[in-house]
Amino acid sequence: MMSESVPHGGKLINRINHGLSIDLSRNYVLLDNLELSDMELIANGAYSPLEGFMGKADYESVVRKMRLSNGLPWSLPITLAIDKNKAIELKVGETINLIKDGVVYGEMNVEEIYIPDKIVEAEMVYKTTDLQHPGVKKLFARDELYVAGPIMMARRINNSEFERFYLDPIQTREKFRNLGWQTVVGFQTRNPVHRAHEYIQKTALETVDGLFLNPLVGETKADDIPSDIRMKSYQVLLEHYYPKDRVFLSVFPAAMRYAGPREAIFHAIVRKNFGCTHFIVGRDHAGVGNYYGTYDAQKIFSEFNEADLGIKPLFFEHSFYCKKCENMASEKTCPHDSRDHVVLSGTKVRAMLKNGVHPPKEFSRPEVIEILIQGMKHVYTKEIKGVEHEK
Ligand code: ADX
Repeated sequence: MMSESVPHGGKLINRINHGLSIDLSRNYVLLDNLELSDMELIANGAYSPLEGFMGKADYESVVRKMRLSNGLPWSLPITLAIDKNKAIELKVGETINLIKDGVVYGEMNVEEIYIPDKIVEAEMVYKTTDLQHPGVKKLFARDELYVAGPIMMARRINNSEFERFYLDPIQTREKFRNLGWQTVVGFQTRNPVHRAHEYIQKTALETVDGLFLNPLVGETKADDIPSDIRMKSYQVLLEHYYPKDRVFLSVFPAAMRYAGPREAIFHAIVRKNFGCTHFIVGRDHAGVGNYYGTYDAQKIFSEFNEADLGIKPLFFEHSFYCKKCENMASEKTCPHDSRDHVVLSGTKVRAMLKNGVHPPKEFSRPEVIEILIQGMKHVYTKEIKGVEHEK
C-alpha cells in the first residue's frame, strides 16, 4: 500500500506572502494569462520544486533532456518572456514587480536574462515547428527573450464564481488525508466528462481509494468548451453518477500547451504535488490535431523510472460504448467492429451542441449535455453578435 505522495523534489514550495510590501516605483514586467497562471502555480507549490521562472541552465536541460539541471524529471519549460527594450531596462540583481491588467501580483528577483532558441524548443517540446499547432503558435507569438528568477506572490488571482474549487496543493493533500485516502488517482481534462472519461475514471477507481477530478481551467484554445460551462457540467455529473466519498473536484488553473506526451509527464508531476499517487493517461493525452500518435503520451513514461517520477501512471486504451457489448469498452476488451462503437469527434460534438442536438446518451450523460447546450447557447449568441459588431 502506498502512503501519501512526497512532493516533487522533496518538499512543497510556498512562495505566497500576503504581507509582502510592494514598492510601486520599481521596474516591472507585464504578464500574459499563461505567465500569470504559471506564477500562481509556482507560488502555491503545484510546480514544486520550482521557485520562480526558469533560468537558462534549467530551461536548456528541460528542453533537451526533460530534466531540471539537478537531474529531476521536468518536461515543460516554465518561462517569462520579455522584449528587447524591457531587457535593456532590467538589471540583474534588481527586484521587479509582476503585473497583469494593472494589478501587482508580486515580485521577482532578476537573476538572468537570456535568448531562447525557440526552434529547438518547438522541435523538442512540441515535436513540430508548425505554426498551426496552438502551442507552437503561442511560443512564437511570445516576446523573444526570457527573464528568470525566484518569485514571491503577494496577491492571489480573483476567481469569482468557482472560488471554492480553487485549492492549493497543501489543501488538497489535507482533504485526501481527511477522507482517509491512501491512494488517489488524478484525472486531467480540458473537456466535459463524457462516458469514455467516466469509464476510465471508474475503472481506475476500482483499484485506488479516491478519484481527484482536476479539470484544467487556465487558457485553452478558442474552440475548447469554456471552463465555467464545464465546471457546471462536472458538478451535475458528480451529483448524479459518482459516490460522494470517493471523488473530489478541484481545478487546475494552468494554461493548456497541447504538447501531448511532454505535457502528460508535466500533468502527472503536478498532480503528484497535489497529493495524487496515480495518474490517468488515456488516448492522445493533451494532444491536438494529428501531431502525436494515439499512445505516444503513454510511451513517453518509459523514459523515466517510477521512483524518479514518484507517481504511477495508469494507462487506458481508446474507450467507447459498444452497441453489441451493450457496455463501455475499449480496443483491448471489445471484439466487435468499429461500426458498433459510439465514437464522436470533438468537432462533431461541438457542432451538435451548437445546433441544440443531443448526442446519444451512450456518448454523454443527458444531464451533462443539457448544461452544455444551455451554456454554449450564450457563447454562440455572443459570437454571432461579435461578428455583426465587426462588420
Ligand atoms: S486532455 O487534453 O486534457 O488530455 P481530454 O479532456 O479529452 O483532453 O482527456 C482527458 C483524459 O482522458 C486524457 O488522459 C485522455 O487521454 C483521456 N481520454 C479522453 N478520451 C478518451 C477515450 N475515448 N478513451 C480513452 N481515454 C480518453
